[in-house]
Amino acid sequence: MKSRKVTKAVFPVAGMGTRFLPATKSIPKEIMTLVDRPLIQYAIDEARAAGIKEFIFVTSRGKSALEDYFDHAPELENTLKRAGKNDLLEVLKTTNMDSGAIAYVRQNRAMGLGHAVWCARRLIGNEPFAVLLPDDVIAAEKPCLAQMVEAYEETGGNMVATMEVPPSKASAYGVLDIAEDMGAIVKAKGMVEKPKAEEAPSNLAVIGRYILSPKVMTNLNKMKQGAGGEIQLTDAIAEEVGEEGTGVYGYRFSGQRYDCGSKAGFLQATVAFGLSRPDLQDEFSSYLHDLIAQQKAAQ
Ligand code: G1P
Repeated sequence: MKSRKVTKAVFPVAGMGTRFLPATKSIPKEIMTLVDRPLIQYAIDEARAAGIKEFIFVTSRGKSALEDYFDHAPELENTLKRAGKNDLLEVLKTTNMDSGAIAYVRQNRAMGLGHAVWCARRLIGNEPFAVLLPDDVIAAEKPCLAQMVEAYEETGGNMVATMEVPPSKASAYGVLDIAEDMGAIVKAKGMVEKPKAEEAPSNLAVIGRYILSPKVMTNLNKMKQGAGGEIQLTDAIAEEVGEEGTGVYGYRFSGQRYDCGSKAGFLQATVAFGLSRPDLQDEFSSYLHDLIAQQKAAQ
């Protein structure tokens, strides 16, 4: 099947980030850093690597730091230039967006992930689009969305990233009801948002990467409330299950996913990303090593 190229991505960044208070009282959680790069930078880099050209942020009050982050910083750049700090200038380049490549729309009321995505409908128009939830950070040799774009070229329709979770955790996710398991690709016959543990159709959870048909936007127009009284993206995608020539597919990506929406996940990601950085590796791993040895000795 020949599917249309995916060049637009939606980044829902309107959440208040209450789990990270007090930090998020004055900074958006997407600006919180893993080592020295904000969470949002990882999502943007992943989208770029998958061929995304237009970046749509769904924001809310208090998120203006995100707009500044992706703008040029002429004073800072000139200072670095004069000081001959070309390596730092290179680092800054990854934060710059071409004029018009990035757009911000406001979600003026917190009504759920589906509603946030729907806020971008006019900018998406009649095209397939990606959605990336920056809380889900995925470390992978080939970035997750690029893996999905490749698989989507085969399947078309709608595709969600997925991974097995312990059955006791399934109720924290959107969960797939499996029609056909083809290995990396799974055809779904249903999708449930945050099911009760005993009602989960499988333990295949949806992770925050999606490639969706514009039909999902149309489904969101209905504004039907789902789990938690919110307008759920999962429900709008589930309506496409079994549709002729489209359908919904799960993609078991290769890579390690970190739930940076939780403190424990954020800490795990910090350690993992710190250890994978060539400039920090030696010092950081010997520190961790000593720390664990001290703890063992004290037991
Ligand atoms: C959202 C989605 C859920 C998905 C999860 C992945 O939930 O609604 O379907 O499984 O992201 O991280 P949230 O974590 O925002 O409650």
